[in-house]
Amino acid sequence: MNGNQYRALPTQRRSRSGRLACRLVFVASLISSAATTAFAEGDAVRGKTVFNRCGTCHSTTGQNRMGPSLDGIFGRTAGGKTGARYSNALKNSGIVWNDENLDRFLYAPRQVVPGTTMTIDVRQAQDRADIIAFLKTLAPAAADATQE
Ligand code: HEC
Repeated sequence: MNGNQYRALPTQRRSRSGRLACRLVFVASLISSAATTAFAEGDAVRGKTVFNRCGTCHSTTGQNRMGPSLDGIFGRTAGGKTGARYSNALKNSGIVWNDENLDRFLYAPRQVVPGTTMTIDVRQAQDRADIIAFLKTLAPAAADATQE
């Protein structure tokens, strides 16, 4: 009668956070990309040609350019090339380069090592496999050996 009406509080709408879903999609995409690339055969000869796009920044003979020389990269600890300039992110990553983590890194460096200054994505699985096969052929350069 006096107009005093009960007012319901606005119902709290719980927006279901999309964050978890995003993460799951991200993880799933990593898993599926690993699954589809795991058996790609690498061709080192073709890899040497594909590597041309890396050569502006990376030599394979010991000289560090914008990026470290990639001689002896396979089995080396990330950020471990003597005299090269690295981000703290890569130096502290604890990665020891092998087929699997090179494949993931080359696919999306900034996702694997957030904060890295290596920003080139190699999206084609065959290109990554061929590059990795080529990188495996690179023994440590003599210049590096003398710095021991
Ligand atoms: C625009 C310059 C540039 C190009 C092009 C480039 N990189 Fe890099 N790369 C870098 C830099 C800079 C780093 C060091 C990253 C850091 O310290 O976070 C790096 C780091 C790396 C590392 C880790 C080296 C180590 O000693 O741990 C690998 C492996 C690598 N690059 C591979 C490649 C390959 C393969 C390509 C070609 C598909 C490529 N990069 C193209 C600049 C480049």
